[in-house]
Amino acid sequence: MNTIETIHDEHATMLAIYQAIGHVLDEIAAGALPDWRLLSMMLDYVIHEPEELHHPREDRLLFPLLMERDAACRALIEKLSAQHAEGHEQVGALAGAFIRFLSRGREGFAAFEEAARRYIAAAERHIMLEEHELLPLARKVLSAEDLDELDRRYRADGAQPASAFRELFKEVANRLPDPYGFGAARS
Ligand SMILES: [Fe+2]
Ligand SMILES: [Fe+2]
Repeated sequence: MNTIETIHDEHATMLAIYQAIGHVLDEIAAGALPDWRLLSMMLDYVIHEPEELHHPREDRLLFPLLMERDAACRALIEKLSAQHAEGHEQVGALAGAFIRFLSRGREGFAAFEEAARRYIAAAERHIMLEEHELLPLARKVLSAEDLDELDRRYRADGAQPASAFRELFKEVANRLPDPYGFGAARS
């Protein structure tokens, strides 16, 4: 799997986690008691994987290479980079809202839910833009040598194979009901 396919795979994982977070929010909004451990794991995932690893690597490693190969990418890449910066700010607000929800209980839920749904909606729009415009462009303008170079850049940056990236996803998914979880994996 080359780095472009790994990025696509990571997008699928992120979308699944965002959908699962939406499900957990629905349950709490309907009166369920919050599962603090599950919520913490989900937020840990969001803060660590997309915000500390996935988006910064696109900014540092993929976007400059694309710009070198096709200057017409500039407008799209600037838009995506701006979305990365906005997401990074939003996740800080989300973490703060989670701490207040944890310390104040039910009265802190509305603000946490709003911050989470806002973050997720923006992140989903961002991923769809990358899936529909960025990745097709990358597949078009990057040569086989470029893809090898990109793989080298990602490995040198400490990127793990997709299987390692999925461990946390499995841990979260195992604790969710179907269709979000892995029913068989729980038994
Ligand atoms: Fe991105
Ligand atoms: Fe991405």
